[in-house]
Amino acid sequence: MSVRVRITATVAALVALTLAGAGLLVYAIETQRLEQQTADDVDQELDEFARLNGGGVDPVTGAGFASVQDLLELFMRRNVPDDDELLVGWVGDRVVNLSPREDPLVADPAFLAAAAPLVDEADTVRLETAGERLMITSQPVRRGGERGALLVVVRLEEDQSELLDTMRTYAIVAALSLLLVTVVAFWQSGRLLAPLRVLRETAEEIGETDLSRRIPTSGNDDITALTRTVNGMLDRLESAFTGQRQFLDDAGHELKTPLTVLRGHLELLDTGSPEEVAETRVLLLDEVDRMARLVGDLILLAKSDRPDFVTLEPVDLAGLTEDLVAKARGLGDREWVLDGAAAGTLQADPQRLTQAVLQLADNAVKHTAPGDTVAIGSSYDGSRVRLWVRDTGPGVPPEQRDGIFERFGRGPVPEGDEGFGLGLSIVSAIAAAHGGRVLVEDAEPHGARFVLTLPATLTSTEEHPWPAS
Ligand SMILES: Nc1ncnc2c1ncn2[C@@H]1O[C@H](COP(=O)(O)OP(=O)(O)OP(=O)(O)O)[C@@H](O)[C@H]1O
Ligand SMILES: [Mg+2]
Repeated sequence: MSVRVRITATVAALVALTLAGAGLLVYAIETQRLEQQTADDVDQELDEFARLNGGGVDPVTGAGFASVQDLLELFMRRNVPDDDELLVGWVGDRVVNLSPREDPLVADPAFLAAAAPLVDEADTVRLETAGERLMITSQPVRRGGERGALLVVVRLEEDQSELLDTMRTYAIVAALSLLLVTVVAFWQSGRLLAPLRVLRETAEEIGETDLSRRIPTSGNDDITALTRTVNGMLDRLESAFTGQRQFLDDAGHELKTPLTVLRGHLELLDTGSPEEVAETRVLLLDEVDRMARLVGDLILLAKSDRPDFVTLEPVDLAGLTEDLVAKARGLGDREWVLDGAAAGTLQADPQRLTQAVLQLADNAVKHTAPGDTVAIGSSYDGSRVRLWVRDTGPGVPPEQRDGIFERFGRGPVPEGDEGFGLGLSIVSAIAAAHGGRVLVEDAEPHGARFVLTLPATLTSTEEHPWPAS
């Protein structure tokens, strides 16, 4: 079931419930009011009758009423009963007068039977006869030996049927309103949800192959915000897919070259000449090593997204920095210098950090000549640990500083360099896995300085690993 139908159904149900509730309430209150009104009307008639009976005088004789019939007659002449009322004058055992007019009711035996006892006792009875609902209230009266009564008969049906008519009109109006509200709710929810439908349809149309499409945005509501979010997600997906495709493409090309070399050498190889075989063997092993290194780098990069890429443990920063200089010495005949080492312990993966710094040191060696200086150092500024490798080579021109950190991104390299351009992406990945980053800047007086910045708190090392000398 669509959201549109659900919204419409909810609105319709609420409105129907409200209208029905209001109708029932009005009906109950009105019924109550009508009953009260009827009772008040009857009371008023009886009060007037009692006043006439008590203090009234016969206008003909000027004295009190001689007979009950005279009293009843005068009362009925003076009183105009309501539409739904019938005044019945009763003397002895029979009806003597009626107001406003003759009524078939006085011939109804059921009525007479119900009314007769009321002549002697003031009371109210309800009666259903000949399809009518009646309320009969009596006021007995005595004069001399005569006994009589005034009966006020109210036809309850009349008020009731008026109320029912009103309620019927209300029901029709309510039903029409409900219909109108439902139609408007259906239309309006459709209008509001239209962008969502467009969003879904477009998202369905966008396959993996066509990530360039975007969902059109209009308006300024939260659905538009959602559309923008989805578009932003598509931007990221597209660049991730493009990056991946580019990466595979580059990796394929890089692998193809050594394979071509292998094939070319094997094709031309004269197996009869032992020297040539030995020479080719060395060459081919070299190529295979190169391929193995590339595959190793690729696997490392692929792993770098995984959470277990780094295993954090307490690392003594000063010790690590000194170790790094010692390890880097093996990379080449350079003037290896320790720029400085911050003391303290941080949470990091020492193997990965070593790997990163050695990559940087390898680059530094590649871009310098024997006798040049390559320095390694670390520092701490209260919130970040910096680990750097500085050289006195040509440095990196500012316009290349972004590109060289990309996968397979390479700048100018010395003659005969066989790198792939993956070293700095590995360093980047290691920095990112530690929540940090790597950047390159100019070194003093010349050359490049690659800095790994890692957010970390350095805790002071209580026990110094080496005894003070
Ligand atoms: N110390 C440096 N001085 C000058 N340029 C550098 C230095 N280190 C790196 N670069 C530039 O950055 C580029 C990318 O370096 P990166 O380490 O990613 O690749 P690579 O060293 O060429 O190959 P690989 O590391 O995969 O063997 C290099 O090609 C080089 O142009
Ligand atoms: Mg490198």
